[in-house]
Amino acid sequence: MTVPPPIIAPSILAADFSRLAEEVRAVEDAADWLHVDVMDNHFVPNLTIGLPVVQSLRAATKLPFDVHLMITDPRRWAPGYADAGAYNVTFHAEACDDPVALAKDLRAAGAKAGLAIDRDTPIEPYLDLLPSFDTLLIMTIKAGFGGQRFIPQLLDKVRTVRRHVDAGHLDLRIEVDGGIAADTIEQAAAAGADAFVAGTAVYGADDPAEAVRRLRGLAERAAPGA
Ligand code: DX5
Ligand code: ZN
Repeated sequence: MTVPPPIIAPSILAADFSRLAEEVRAVEDAADWLHVDVMDNHFVPNLTIGLPVVQSLRAATKLPFDVHLMITDPRRWAPGYADAGAYNVTFHAEACDDPVALAKDLRAAGAKAGLAIDRDTPIEPYLDLLPSFDTLLIMTIKAGFGGQRFIPQLLDKVRTVRRHVDAGHLDLRIEVDGGIAADTIEQAAAAGADAFVAGTAVYGADDPAEAVRRLRGLAERAAPGA
């Protein structure tokens, strides 16, 4: 297995929304990406933030944005996030009938393209599509809310994708999202994930930057071949 150094992506869903720029700067020197959860009250029951917040926040930090769209009709909305300067734009497989076409649109707009797989969706039908993507986000909870309990059984999907990526020499980040914390990140890393979203574990901590560093250390030491 050849797993690149881990990406740690704090999720601002767990931050104080009245002080977003400050909360982002608190992890600026420690994190790799900033994870932005966009929810539309249709694809998921929850409602969070959208394009205007991303546009404003873009000027407030140097961190690359990892935008996670939990929305219906991503073909209509996703390219706008690429235009707003997002580094990576991830949309849900369950919400899109032509994921490869949207991945092409996102890459053409200058972003990396990400595909997200929710809790109840099997990974096998999507394996052949992976060369069109830069990131694959495997939910380790049911998408929609922060602060849920990590579901270890979902790491079987990570193992399957890691084998597929290594066998095909694909250039793909395998990202996990949901319940990632000091007591769960090692199992996710050992399964072959190499990008880790953490909301509560970072912004629920007294020192968010220190929490990011700790997660990184755990992920590095648990990575296959480390
Ligand atoms: C939930 C979001 C996650 C969420 C994770 O649907 O996609 O990114 O912020 O939060 P924690 O780390 O608290 O589980
Ligand atoms: Zn997310």
